[in-house]
Amino acid sequence: MSELGISYSFGCASGLAGGFDNRVSALSLAASEAASWIADGASSGESGFGWYNLPEQDISAILDAARWLAGYDAIVHVGIGGSALGNLMLHQALLPLYFNERANGKPKFYLADNPDPEKVNAIWESVRGKKTALIGVSKSGATAETMSQFLWFRSKMEEASGGKVDGDILVITDPAGGVFRSYANAAECRSLEIPPSVGGRFSVLSACGLITAAALGADIKGILSGAAEMKRYLASRPALAENPALRLASVSYLHSIDGRPMTVLMPYSNRLETFSEWFAQLWGESVGKDGVGSTPVRALGAIDQHSQVQLYTAGPDDKLYTIINLARREVEIELPKVADESLGSLSYLSGQKLGGMLGYEAASTAAALVKAGRPVVWIELDHLDAPTLGGLVFFYEYATAAAGRLLRINPFDQPGVEQGKRYTYGMMGRDAYKADADEANELFKRARGNTIRA
Ligand code: PA5
Repeated sequence: MSELGISYSFGCASGLAGGFDNRVSALSLAASEAASWIADGASSGESGFGWYNLPEQDISAILDAARWLAGYDAIVHVGIGGSALGNLMLHQALLPLYFNERANGKPKFYLADNPDPEKVNAIWESVRGKKTALIGVSKSGATAETMSQFLWFRSKMEEASGGKVDGDILVITDPAGGVFRSYANAAECRSLEIPPSVGGRFSVLSACGLITAAALGADIKGILSGAAEMKRYLASRPALAENPALRLASVSYLHSIDGRPMTVLMPYSNRLETFSEWFAQLWGESVGKDGVGSTPVRALGAIDQHSQVQLYTAGPDDKLYTIINLARREVEIELPKVADESLGSLSYLSGQKLGGMLGYEAASTAAALVKAGRPVVWIELDHLDAPTLGGLVFFYEYATAAAGRLLRINPFDQPGVEQGKRYTYGMMGRDAYKADADEANELFKRARGNTIRA
């Protein structure tokens, strides 16, 4: 698409032997039905479809809270899964790399997602004595990992300040339900909403993902304008042949039923490294149900050329590959001329550009995969800025929803995640979860059978 500068090439994902392209075309009707299903679900406000309407939301409350947060030296963000991964993804793509280590990188940002006491304590040691805001993000307002860390950081902040710290707290949660909402109402701390129709892993373009990006200086209006642009582009192309998100969904669907149950996302850009993390949750939790779906695999070019490409080209033919290349990088590095005789064999590098080299490496990986007969989708970004990223985010949300529809599963629920949450509540002694605890303990005993101790 010309406006956002993103192009999608499917030549070697569908032009495979065995009439694969014809099978993609045969999905035309089903793909168009998926497009209507998405548009209709969003316009009737159905649960799960709210992500589709986020590009046009009113962001004045988010910008207001972001201005307030920008006055702090540090932000501790507690949240996990969809309440965290999108934040990291936006930061890494749009802020200078190593933001926290820059003298002018302020407020410093710390994500408390995994409740590992060693990490949690290290975050506290990093912010202790600094003017710190605590953000608690949970769509359900119940998740144990988030609630436990929220309670701990709040009590540490109270201990350090010798009084209440509700004025330094922002919660982002459901407008009505969950313990975070009742806390926000009682403490009268700042709060923002995640719309009820927006699921956790689809919430990056809501207050959940946008707030910290805005507070740290990213252009969130640009993100949303790019998402809106992509939405217009996809919505105006309900036919599979001209809609790259429907095409990706269809190709992914066919490969998953053809014995390729994995999908590798391999951007050639450090700024997109956490995009793969975000995608992995989006794709994995959305399509992995009822025994179908494909497992997302995160990779990073060129690092994984020296780690995984051997397997990708010569191991089992069980994956679909998507390579994301960046044609123009904000920073380019020109290599020096090689004058030393001893370094003569490196003269081919003289005057070359590092970003250019990364581009050749991406193309080489695609070529190696094609030679091995492996299916490859190539996505090329002219450049990476807020609108392009917003467009890419919306593209993947759309493709994921459409893939779910083609697989005949509900891409917007997560029964497996909820099951794990119930077991944890039970094992932690939460009221009304005793039966879950008993079941979990019984099953866990089976997992611990046949132990060999070294
Ligand atoms: O996509 C989902 O719904 C989940 O993976 C959630 O993002 C994750 O479990 C965190 O949930 P919550 O935001 O309710 O704390």
